Amino acid sequence: DLTLYSSPEHAVSEEHADAAGIASQRKDDHVRLADRQHADESTNAFDDIRFIHHAFPDIATKDVDLGVHVLGADWPMPFFINAMTGGSSKSGGINAALAKAAARTGLAIASGSQHAALREPSLRESFTAIRDNTPGFVFANVGPSVTPDQAVDAVAMLQADALQIHVNAAQEIVMPEGDRDFSSWRQSIADIIAAVKVPVVVKEVGFGLSSRSIGQILDLGADGVDVSGRGGTDFVDIENRRRKSSEYSYLRGFGQSTPLCLLDAVHRISLHDRDAVLLASGGVRNPLDVLKALALGAQAVGVSGHFLHTYLHSGDDALVAEIEAWKMQLRSLMTLLGARSVADLRHGDVLVTGESREEAELLGID
Ligand code: FNR
Repeated sequence: DLTLYSSPEHAVSEEHADAAGIASQRKDDHVRLADRQHADESTNAFDDIRFIHHAFPDIATKDVDLGVHVLGADWPMPFFINAMTGGSSKSGGINAALAKAAARTGLAIASGSQHAALREPSLRESFTAIRDNTPGFVFANVGPSVTPDQAVDAVAMLQADALQIHVNAAQEIVMPEGDRDFSSWRQSIADIIAAVKVPVVVKEVGFGLSSRSIGQILDLGADGVDVSGRGGTDFVDIENRRRKSSEYSYLRGFGQSTPLCLLDAVHRISLHDRDAVLLASGGVRNPLDVLKALALGAQAVGVSGHFLHTYLHSGDDALVAEIEAWKMQLRSLMTLLGARSVADLRHGDVLVTGESREEAELLGID
């Protein structure tokens, strides 16, 4: 049964829609279902991470510098709007709004997968809306199934400062129309890295990168990774909900949490020796989660689901207000923790409790 449900009243079948139409429908489904999912989730593995509070921070808020150096650029803030959408007229509007918010707040932003536009030129505008609305740092986004030339085209389309390559095997497996052959992914990533002129980051989409995967990615020549772990947007759940019968409902929650990925990565990979960038995303709900990810070793932190939800429910001014509130609160919380810089956070006292502690111990991390 190839019927894809966006909502019962908007059911489309493959007989009646062309491939581009199906792809656009999928993009709209992802946004709608990710938004619904966001409202459901409340706790995640970031709750296992605790900062030890000390009575004397010894600094003032004016001493705090939130800037980070990422992929050759200076970002004023250690968080960014991570990859989401594009490929339909509705998602083009969302990209324009997210990019405007990024421009107004000084944040970097990543495009959603540009495959649809590489195949169907009429869909390009839904992605170029990003560059049209921000002069700031922009990531292009493709998967390992594109050719090196297509990756170069994706970067050019957005005049992007860097490229994200998403690896999403768990999502593909759950999608009936998804890829089933992952045997050439690593070679393909190496070929893309060799072809593009901008820095390349390989990212997951919410299932997490193990230290083994990170080692393999860096061996291919990538400039960095975004672990994008479990805890927020769950594409197994989203793909299940797009169908009448959810065959893989038991696979919900698959993968490693973002904090566990960071503990694993920092414990096992000499990121500094390799001059590699470690980014984190997946389940970031508030400024404290941002600080926890930074304290666990991330250089910057990506947010998708939460900002999408804010925009869809409250609009563009509310998204800007939310980002500004995060910026202000990050400064306050850094002060509370006595950290003048993001680097200082890594010397702070962090407790790993609960399931995250148990998992870390099983991985041999103490
Ligand atoms: C995503 N994500 C994503 N990632 C990617 O590399 N390419 C893509 O096209 C998409 N598409 C997409 C659509 C929607 C609606 C969402 C919410 C997310 C994954 C995203 O970048 C991130 O890795 C995960 O969503 C985990 O972060 P959050 O949502 O828990 O903050």
